[in-house]
Amino acid sequence: MSTRKRAGGRKRGAARDSRGAILRAAAIEFSERGYDAAGTDRIATRARVNKAMLYYHFGSKREVYLEVVREMVRTVGSRARAIADGPGTAQDKLDAWVAALIEEAAARPWFASIMLREVASGAPHFDVHTFQLMNDVFVGRMSGPTLATDQIDTLLSWIDKQPRVPRAAHANPAAVERGRALFNDATRGACASCHSGTGFTNNATVDVGTGRAFQVPSLVGIGSRGPFMHNGCAKTLAGRFDAACGGGDRHGRTSGMAPDEINDLISYLQSI
Ligand code: HEC
Repeated sequence: MSTRKRAGGRKRGAARDSRGAILRAAAIEFSERGYDAAGTDRIATRARVNKAMLYYHFGSKREVYLEVVREMVRTVGSRARAIADGPGTAQDKLDAWVAALIEEAAARPWFASIMLREVASGAPHFDVHTFQLMNDVFVGRMSGPTLATDQIDTLLSWIDKQPRVPRAAHANPAAVERGRALFNDATRGACASCHSGTGFTNNATVDVGTGRAFQVPSLVGIGSRGPFMHNGCAKTLAGRFDAACGGGDRHGRTSGMAPDEINDLISYLQSI
C-alpha cells in the first residue's frame, strides 16, 4: 500500500517536473524563433518529453505561450503589490520595485524578447485575460505609456537590429571558409538560394522534402539552438544532413558531397 502511494507521489512529481521543463523549453523556443516559427515538436524535444505530455499539460501551443507570459506577469504583479502595500517612502518603494523588476527579468533572459515582439506587433497572441493582467501590472501599477503605431514600427526595427550574441572564433577557420564557399555555391550546396541575406532567410515558404512547406528559418546563431528542423529530428547539425530527417536533395544539394565537405558546411553553420 505504502509502496503504491510512493509510486503515485513520484508520478505526480514527474508530471510537475515535466510541466516546468516544458515551460522553460517553450520560453527559449518562443524568444528565439517568435510565436509563429516556434514548434511544439521542438519544444517537446528540448524539454525531453513527448508531445502528448505537452498537450496533456497545456492543450495547445498558444496556451503554452500564454502560460510563459502569465507566469512572469503574475510574479511581477505580486511583487509590485507587496512593495506598494508595504512600509517605506515612495522613493524606497520605487527603488525596491526597480530592483525587483531587474531581478525577475534577469532570472528570465528570454522574457524581454518575447514581450517586445508581442507588444510591438499589437499583442496578436494574447487572450483577454492575459491582456487584462498585463494592463493591470504595467499600465495601472507602473503607469506605463501606450505606444503609437510609428513608435511600434521603430521598436520592431530596433529589435531586428540588435547585435548578435558574440560567439568565440571557430577553432578551424579554414574549414569555415570552405564551408562558406559550399553554402554559397549555386551549383553545389545552393543553401544561400533560400538561407540568404543577413538574416539567412528569404522568408519564403517551401517544401524541402520534410513533409510539407515551411517558412525558411533564419540560421543566425543556429549552432547553439538544437534540436533542428520543424520536428526536432536532427539532434545535431550533422543530423540535418541525414536525408530521412533533413529532406535530401530538395533541401540543398548535399548527396554528392564527401563527408569532409559536410563537416566543412557544419563548421560554417556553427560560425553563423
Ligand atoms: C529551397 C530552400 C532551401 C534550401 C536550398 C536550403 N534550405 Fe535549409 N531550410 C529550408 C527550410 C524550408 C527549412 C525548414 C524545414 C523543416 O524544418 O522541416 C530549412 C531548415 C534548415 C536547417 C534547420 C534550421 C532550424 O532552425 O531547425 C538548417 C541547419 C538548414 N536548413 C541548413 C541548410 C543548408 C546547410 C543548406 C545547403 C546545403 C540548406 N539549408 C538549403 C529551406 C532551404
